[in-house]
Amino acid sequence: MTSEANRAQGEEESPVYLRPLTEEDADIAYDWWRDPIVQGLSGAPLGPRDPEEFRRFFVEKYVRPNPRRIAAGIVVKETGKLIGLCVAYIDPDFREAEYGIKIGDRSSWGKGYGTAATRAFIDLVFETTSIDSLFGLVELTNERAKRTLISAGFRICCLLYNREFLRVDLTRYEWECDKRRQAQATPHPGPLPAGEG
Ligand SMILES: CC(C)(COP(=O)(O)OP(=O)(O)OC[C@H]1O[C@@H](n2cnc3c(N)ncnc32)[C@H](O)[C@@H]1OP(=O)(O)O)[C@@H](O)C(=O)NCCC(=O)NCCS
Repeated sequence: MTSEANRAQGEEESPVYLRPLTEEDADIAYDWWRDPIVQGLSGAPLGPRDPEEFRRFFVEKYVRPNPRRIAAGIVVKETGKLIGLCVAYIDPDFREAEYGIKIGDRSSWGKGYGTAATRAFIDLVFETTSIDSLFGLVELTNERAKRTLISAGFRICCLLYNREFLRVDLTRYEWECDKRRQAQATPHPGPLPAGEG
């Protein structure tokens, strides 16, 4: 959808864009993986202390091409700053993928970037793969993450793992219906100027 159409519907233009991650991004991401608050909320241990070891880990996990994974860096349009990443781990047997997001730069939290990045990443996944559904697992106490995924279009599915995690789902069909609804809501551009068409 164009920026004009977004504005016409009262939707804000996305404040972020996604881009492929590179080996050089490991230098920025190192701090994210060493932050106990970010890692605690991500449900992951601290990353390797040694920067070279971290670089190898980062490249393997997010940069090297892998048919079972899609990853993208989240960049703030206004500043060009890389603030985090989105990832989807694909299970080709079940034609589904698990979604994960980390905004490692804590000063960027609560500004709508996570929701905007999730929306853009959902589009990327459904547009570039043939999976049928995307799901996320969020710790029940992680209020910001729950709201991010639900605002971006995921639907609550069930509680898992001793009722400590919430599973949220989004099927390709739901995503397509939503896109159709958005397209129908886009106002008609109006009659062409005289002499055209
Ligand atoms: C979770 C995360 C991606 C959210 O991104 P964000 O840019 O901070 O979130 P947004 O600004 O888009 O806000 C998303 C929602 O959280 C709400 N929110 C913002 N700050 C909040 C706070 N302190 N407490 C509760 N909710 C809050 C917003 O109001 C919004 O909800 P709404 O759409 O219903 O109004 C980001 O904070 C992050 O990476 N956290 C650490 C790692 C993590 O938790 N990853 C997710 C693991 S599943």
